[in-house]
Amino acid sequence: MPDNAPPPAVAPNLVSAVSEARQWARLMQLAEIGGFTDPAGHKGVNRACLTPLDREARRKLIAWGEAIGLKPSVDALGNLFLRAEGDDPKAAPVLTGSHMDSQPNGGRFDGIYGVIAGLEAIEALREAGVRTKRPIELVAWTNEEGGRFAPGCMGSMAYAGFRPADTWDAITDKDGITWAQALAEHLGEERDIPARGLGGKPFAYVEAHIEQGPRLEAEDCDIGIVTGIQGSRWFVVEIRGKTDHAGTTPLALRQDAVQDMVRAIAALNELMRDPKDVLRFTVGRVEVAPGSSNTVADTARFTIDFRHPDNAVLQARGNAVAGVIQAAVRDCAVCVAERFHAVPVAFQPDVPDAVERAAKAQGLRALRMASGAFHDAQFVVPLCPTGMIFTPCRAGVSHHPAEYSEPGQLAAGTRVLAQTLAELANL
Ligand code: GLV
Ligand code: MN
Ligand code: MN
Repeated sequence: MPDNAPPPAVAPNLVSAVSEARQWARLMQLAEIGGFTDPAGHKGVNRACLTPLDREARRKLIAWGEAIGLKPSVDALGNLFLRAEGDDPKAAPVLTGSHMDSQPNGGRFDGIYGVIAGLEAIEALREAGVRTKRPIELVAWTNEEGGRFAPGCMGSMAYAGFRPADTWDAITDKDGITWAQALAEHLGEERDIPARGLGGKPFAYVEAHIEQGPRLEAEDCDIGIVTGIQGSRWFVVEIRGKTDHAGTTPLALRQDAVQDMVRAIAALNELMRDPKDVLRFTVGRVEVAPGSSNTVADTARFTIDFRHPDNAVLQARGNAVAGVIQAAVRDCAVCVAERFHAVPVAFQPDVPDAVERAAKAQGLRALRMASGAFHDAQFVVPLCPTGMIFTPCRAGVSHHPAEYSEPGQLAAGTRVLAQTLAELANL
């Protein structure tokens, strides 16, 4: 990209072509696919990747895209692309999108907003008669959330060559279905969609997403110009003991997997202590077997999600995890496996600067900020200039059915996306 990007050409008709109502209606239609209402009355979404619900949502997206002339294709990881041709079909495309899968107790906007915003931005470009030299490709990455198959971001990791495509074949979901089985079934169901090779070399990548944190709302800003993403490491810990009778076995004779899990988690809390409250440490999944009140558990499994913006801290504390657990358990055997390792990334200035120009030109209040959540953008960074656009979300709530962004806030993000795409796709 040239150092001197062109001045912002505000295309007023482009800005007004972004339809808040159309975008909101699509988001609400998709929220019905896997939608549920929680006991407090919040409408959430549970749409795990590579399920019939995921496919139903993807088919809707394809239908909307085809209605405006976009061409679908699917790669070996199930990443779905919808291509809007440019004046120079040989030019590297500008890529935009996010993911369509959700957390098990997820909201209506995480991920899907970035996909629908990309579609809305492309539709607005067409309606406004804005031509682009470069093609624009809309992408829906497979399994960003990692809720069914851990880790997340498998689609973008494989696309970027960060991991070989077969890395996760043996990973199972909670029903024992392997990733390889689920992916083969999924690709079979989508065999009518043209296949494309895995990977690519986009000219730039821009991902719109709700912030999933409280800053934009608290600071009364419309747009987050994302400057980078903190690092994340995921581990799975399995503790193996022995079942025994809960009424008769003296405590000193037990190999109680639950008690050793409690010791391990207490020790990890010490390792992860951070008076500045920058570090993030979560045990989000615990499984105990055989799971009977009056039997000492012989197996305990738990996950660790550990994040930090400073790679030195991410490495030092992450590398200490296995040793701390080994030292903490008393009676059982333990196995610690790392499942995900994403180092912190800083976006090079090209895309954030283009986002800032668009936000300024539209008179929006924008804030430069780093992302605490990981995103597919984290893995696209080595391929091309990359950036993200955040929109505010109520009270910063996400990964929860109460997750909410106003239609106008989401439309503002899409207007900035549309103008950013118009600029990048004409470089
Ligand atoms: C993404 O869903 C994350 O956990 O950051
Ligand atoms: Mn997301
Ligand atoms: Mn998420």
